[in-house]
Amino acid sequence: MKPEIKILSQISPDQSVICILGNNIIPNYLSLSKSEKEYARKRLSEKDEYVFINSYYKCTYLVRIKDDLPEFKIREELRKTAYNLKKLIKSNSHSEIVISSDDTFDGAIEAFTEGLILSFYSFKKYKTREDEKDKKNYPGKLLLYGKIKKPDLKWFTELCEAVYLVRDMINEPANHLNAVGLGKEIRRIGDISGFNVEILNKGKIEALKMGGLLAVNKGSVDPPVFCILEWKPAGKLNKKPIVLVGKGVIYDTGGLNIKTGDYMAQMKADMAGAATVAGVMYVAAKTSVPLHIIGLVPATDNRPGGNAYTQGDILTMHNNTTVEVGNTDAEGRLILADAISYAGNYSPELIIDIATLTGSAAMTFGNQAIAIMGNADRKYFTLLDESGNEVYERVAELLFWDEYGELLKSDIADIKNVGGREAGAITAGKFLETFTKSPMLHLDIAGTGLLKKDDFYRSKEGPGSGLRLLATFIKKLAEEYRKK
Ligand code: BES
Ligand code: ZN
Ligand code: ZN
Repeated sequence: MKPEIKILSQISPDQSVICILGNNIIPNYLSLSKSEKEYARKRLSEKDEYVFINSYYKCTYLVRIKDDLPEFKIREELRKTAYNLKKLIKSNSHSEIVISSDDTFDGAIEAFTEGLILSFYSFKKYKTREDEKDKKNYPGKLLLYGKIKKPDLKWFTELCEAVYLVRDMINEPANHLNAVGLGKEIRRIGDISGFNVEILNKGKIEALKMGGLLAVNKGSVDPPVFCILEWKPAGKLNKKPIVLVGKGVIYDTGGLNIKTGDYMAQMKADMAGAATVAGVMYVAAKTSVPLHIIGLVPATDNRPGGNAYTQGDILTMHNNTTVEVGNTDAEGRLILADAISYAGNYSPELIIDIATLTGSAAMTFGNQAIAIMGNADRKYFTLLDESGNEVYERVAELLFWDEYGELLKSDIADIKNVGGREAGAITAGKFLETFTKSPMLHLDIAGTGLLKKDDFYRSKEGPGSGLRLLATFIKKLAEEYRKK
């Protein structure tokens, strides 16, 4: 559980406060002594990131704004400062703390609070020996004081809640959360937020002839699921829905093309795309985004057991396309392809898929950017780029030329699931494109969706990459519709 957040109307002199300073003017409501103020001014003039004052009965943290940056960068600096302050704040064991600002821009308090909440996340479910106190999320209460609009507060608290839900799903290991378990968790998230969930079992998946999902599942003793999430508000502004598709590979061993070295180590996170789709639906439902949105989640683990699918197999997919398997480790695109062709049933305005899809995307952009590509109208790319800056989950576009698709030619089937070593992230996107006539955007989060160490408030424990991005994108899209 994340900390409780409330708006405060007055600060009392004995309250511990984190105060974000726009112009380095120390507000009177902090009730600091003359010498404390002098000390603070000196530290601020030396451009310290923050100043800590311990008045024995309370603590004051002054946060300096780096004012020579554009606003979206300052917001990110505030999120990072929140992370940098986390240990100190925690060591002071506040049961509640005020976050205030009166001379900064709109959104400063929200950005800092968001950074702090996301920094406080931890996954301690399976710790049995740690002190109970440490297991609880900390602190209990955050009290916000300053210019904050109610709808903004609702939006970012739900966004943070969704990040927690998504991270929890990603962190669950494969022996505790299989495909059926993921389906159940998605249903629970639907129930608590208000979107509808339908879960198709293996029999239904067979009836739908989802040859990609079934093939990847063959090496596993656990059955696959195909989840259909729907948010259809009464006042929806779009005629055709937006369809979100998330890769739900519970664990990716590589299959018979088994992963070597430490490449398998973090592969419980190979369902990060699926978790993100559930998280976006949660935010849409909780904040009543006036758009019709469908989420599709094909889920299975990818293992080499039983009669696992093999290199050379030819699969018949949901849309009857035949696929030659060139590598069983290119499983994500196979399960996504079935979902993307299934999306055609909804005649969508746009399909967006999100997946930890290729090492190639991670090699290209590291953990700095989500690789994006697609054939959708440029207006969607612009909106995604703006959303990315706003929440600082930035996107970087890759080429999507048809020539890249030619690398997927097969001698014996319609298409191959791998295109060789070159341009691996792009050929994966091109593979997906062949399964739909609808406009599509493809987000590869292999670089940002799993981390070797904390990237500030993006915890290495499943950062939840793409959630704040896509939720913001959906919100902005609804605003565009409202303008029409
Ligand atoms: N899940 C992996 C991609 C991945 C790699 C995600 C690193 C996160 C971090 C995916 O299923 C995969 O194995 N892709 C292969 C494709 C190749 C066989 C064409 C890859 O990228 O190596
Ligand atoms: Zn793989
Ligand atoms: Zn994978």
